[in-house]
Amino acid sequence: MKIVRGIPEMQALRRELKGSVGLVPTMGYLHRGHMALVGKSQEFNAFTIVSMFVNPTQFGPQEDFAKYPRDEQHDIKLLEDAGVDVLFIPSADEMYPDGFDSWVEVRGITDTLEGARRTWHFLGVATICNKLFNITAPHRAYFGQKDAQQVQVVRKMVRDLNMSIEIDVVPTIREEDGLAMSSRNTYLSIDERRAAAVLYKALLKAREMCAFGERDAKKITGGMTAILQSEPLVKVDYVAITDSGSLQEIEYIQSSALVSMAVFIGRTRLIDNITVTV
Ligand code: PAF
Repeated sequence: MKIVRGIPEMQALRRELKGSVGLVPTMGYLHRGHMALVGKSQEFNAFTIVSMFVNPTQFGPQEDFAKYPRDEQHDIKLLEDAGVDVLFIPSADEMYPDGFDSWVEVRGITDTLEGARRTWHFLGVATICNKLFNITAPHRAYFGQKDAQQVQVVRKMVRDLNMSIEIDVVPTIREEDGLAMSSRNTYLSIDERRAAAVLYKALLKAREMCAFGERDAKKITGGMTAILQSEPLVKVDYVAITDSGSLQEIEYIQSSALVSMAVFIGRTRLIDNITVTV
C-alpha cells in the first residue's frame, strides 16, 4: 500500500492508476463499518484509495474535533492487511492552506435533520468531499448508510455540479446488540455503552409498528421516544420520519421513509437510522 500525504503526490500517483478507482473517504479510527466500504470498493474497482482526514470544517466550535479518536498506525495496518492500494493522509494545512475561501453549499436537503441542528456541518462535508473527489478523481465513492443525510447531500452535489462519480451506499454495520458502528462509540463509558443499545431497539420498534399497520409518523416517533426515554442515560435530540428522497418530515408513511434519530448519551451524540417500506 502506498501512503501519500501531499496533494501533488496524490494527483501524480492517481495519473498512474489505469483502471477503475474507488474512493473510501474516512476520518480514520477505522472499524468494521469502514472496512465494509473498503470491501465494496475492492469488489467493484481495479484500485481502491482510502482517504483519512479528520476534517475540521465539519465540526462546530463546541464539538469534538480536538478529541476525535485517532490511531494512524492501527489504521495503516488494517488497510495494508486488507490490500488497499493507496492511503491518502493529508494534513489540515495541505487541505486548507492560508487564504482558503471556497466552499460548496448544498441547499434544501441540508435544511432538515442533522443539517437543521448542525448548521455548519454539511458545508464542511460537501467542501471536503469535493476536494477529495478532485484530488483522487475516483469513478466511484463509498459512503455508509449510517450517515443517511450525508449520502443524500453528496449525491445532490455530484448531480448538481455534474461530477462523473457514482456514489455507492453500504448498509450500516452493527454490533451484536444492534449499536451502529461509529468511531464515536469509543467515547462511551461501560454504562453508556450498555445504554446505547436502546437506539436500535427504538428503530426496531418503528419497523414493528409499521409491520402492524401503523402509518401515522407521530404515533411511531412517540413509540420510539418512549423506548429511548426508558433509558435514563439517554437524552433525545430528535426522532424523525422523513421522505427518504427529500428528507422532509412526513405525517403518514405511504411508501418508503427514513426513520432517523440523534441522541445524547452523556456528552456523546450518536445518530442512527433505518429505512422502512410499506
Ligand atoms: O463520514 C465521514 O467520515 C466524513 O463525514 C467524511 C465523508 C469522510 C468527510 O469528512
